[in-house]
Amino acid sequence: MIPMVNLKAQYAEIKEEVEQGLAQTIENCSFILGPNVQGFEKEAAEYLGVKHAIGVASGTDALHLALLAEGIGEGDEVITSAFTFIATAEAICYVGAKPVFVDVDAKTFNITAQAIEAAITPKTKAVMPVHLFGQPADMAAIKAVCAKHNLKLVEDCAQSFGASIDAKQTGSIGDSAGFSFFPSKNLGAFGDGGLVTTNSDATAAKVKQLRNHGSDVRYYHDVIGYNSRLDDMQAVILRAKLKRIDRYNASRRHAAHLYSELMADLPLETPYEDGVGVHVYHQYTLLADRRDEILEALQAKQIGCAVYYPVPLHQQNVFKEQCAGLSLPVTEAIAARCLSLPICSELSDETVKQIVAVIRSVFEK
Ligand SMILES: Cc1ncc(COP(=O)(O)O)c(C=O)c1O
Repeated sequence: MIPMVNLKAQYAEIKEEVEQGLAQTIENCSFILGPNVQGFEKEAAEYLGVKHAIGVASGTDALHLALLAEGIGEGDEVITSAFTFIATAEAICYVGAKPVFVDVDAKTFNITAQAIEAAITPKTKAVMPVHLFGQPADMAAIKAVCAKHNLKLVEDCAQSFGASIDAKQTGSIGDSAGFSFFPSKNLGAFGDGGLVTTNSDATAAKVKQLRNHGSDVRYYHDVIGYNSRLDDMQAVILRAKLKRIDRYNASRRHAAHLYSELMADLPLETPYEDGVGVHVYHQYTLLADRRDEILEALQAKQIGCAVYYPVPLHQQNVFKEQCAGLSLPVTEAIAARCLSLPICSELSDETVKQIVAVIRSVFEK
């Protein structure tokens, strides 16, 4: 059996460090907003090149609190991708705003400045690009559109920890950003966790207040907030993995490039790298007309694979009414042909070859 992500193998290398850190946290009983959360926030801010990094309970919360802190609310429209995980849109809905879905680029699967500009209305207040599967969106062009129309730019970096454009990390380019530490992410915790990043002191202060019951001073509450703190135990794990993130991402890129090289002659589309940003391959997602046959062949050999995402957001039941009549042809075509293969920092060349051999066998039938 080959899993999509081999978390066990990754753990083996950090086991000692993590166990020591966890034992210390338990010994100190510093469970909530303890020294590891503070340490991780400082180290993550340094790594990402931002002034503030604020640990929260999940990636969904990170996006939700970032939008709230940016002042997005009832009646506002936020332009985002139709080809993403539901949490992107949920965060927009939580603040009372309306997600406006636009089509993606056929090669990068990311939204473009042109699509965003065409969807702007007087109600548009923000744009939330998703750096899907670890490839940065075209932030220079998107930032220019946001500046021109006075829109907030909140990056969904759930899948892009360590991805960069011209040496600038994703999460350091917009007004604020949300990261996810869901276990299978490039930087994954052993449970849920998330991070908001921003260079704005005011936004950071607001997020800190919102994550802790609307309170700056214990038992004094200025607004209705949330219980959304990153756990100190998770911060122990994240600190250990953050030290190794560049190696993890380099291994993912190596495996991805090997897949693409070995499948170059097959009638399918391997992932495209736009050459502008550094893709960190949260997913290795190909496009194929015979997607379902490949999926069945891999499943028959107990090789992990998945369709991310089978139903674009504008076609989900929850948005069907709001999006009646909306056609996003590129997104729809991708959803019908996409397939994600196992990828993680511990994927060996041998395993990649084994997986490609199974895919090749489909075309030799
Ligand atoms: C694009 C995207 N946005 C948001 C999220 C939400 O993150 P979380 O699961 O940590 O709440 C995820 C991941 O699950 C995601 O892939």
